[in-house]
Amino acid sequence: MNNLLEIEKLTISTANGKLLVDNSSFEIFPGEVIGIVGESGSGKTLTGKALVNAVPPNLKVNYHRYNFLGHDMQQLSKEEKTKLIAQEIGFIPQNTGAFLHPLLKIKNQIIDAYCYHLKQSKQQAYHKAEEILEAIGFTNPQHILNSYPWELSGGMKQRVNIAIAMMLDPKLLIADEPTTALDSVTQKQVISLLQQINQEKNISIIFISHDLRLVKYFAHRILVMSLGKIVEEGQTKSIFTNPQHEYTKTLLKAIPHLPSH
Ligand SMILES: Nc1ncnc2c1ncn2[C@@H]1O[C@H](COP(=O)(O)OP(=O)(O)O)[C@@H](O)[C@H]1O
Ligand SMILES: [Mg+2]
Repeated sequence: MNNLLEIEKLTISTANGKLLVDNSSFEIFPGEVIGIVGESGSGKTLTGKALVNAVPPNLKVNYHRYNFLGHDMQQLSKEEKTKLIAQEIGFIPQNTGAFLHPLLKIKNQIIDAYCYHLKQSKQQAYHKAEEILEAIGFTNPQHILNSYPWELSGGMKQRVNIAIAMMLDPKLLIADEPTTALDSVTQKQVISLLQQINQEKNISIIFISHDLRLVKYFAHRILVMSLGKIVEEGQTKSIFTNPQHEYTKTLLKAIPHLPSH
């Protein structure tokens, strides 16, 4: 099977040469969920941002190769790359509040990219937004569209962020600690939703988390990052039953024993 995305030897460094992401290589297949786990500061977010060309400009990004959907990203113009990423990769941020503009109704935030990239009318975009909000479990999409972010709970806002990421029917979702700001019940709901999106629409997901427990029931494959390096990679089951790297073993030991669910 052809991969959906492949990046080879990704390196991200500061102006004075400090390596923040060190020679990372990985791929992701259609319909696959991969978890990127590791302690805070290990380079997970920067790795995700590199894939959508959103690494802060004070840092230097290098890779030998980046292929996505059969395109060699280095051969595309800046505009072509921006367009491909905007249309085919949805990014779900960690901070549920800050991502949404506080003074704009949801309907005015959810349709922008759709109208711009697909040259669709506002009416068509509202229709698509309703369809997606309904598909992800809102019983009254109209009400959500006419709300301001502050009228919604943290879990609702994160589901709206997921809806925004889904508007252009992407092939890949990158979710960066999407549930960290949420309580544990809402966390489970958001993860079930992502799971449902993956299974029903066969959308690949990169799920970034510092919490191995969250990826256990969700990711097919796990990349373990420490100090900017991918130190271990494997099927989720084998990471949990037969970890190879000392760092992975430490991460596993740090998981409190919870009743399985
Ligand atoms: N814009 C930046 N300038 C300098 N250092 C940065 C910048 N962004 C992130 N870093 C550093 O890069 C490292 C990796 O960051 P990040 O990818 O956000 O880690 P993680 O998501 O795993 O917690 C951290 O040490 C962080 O302080
Ligand atoms: Mg992070």
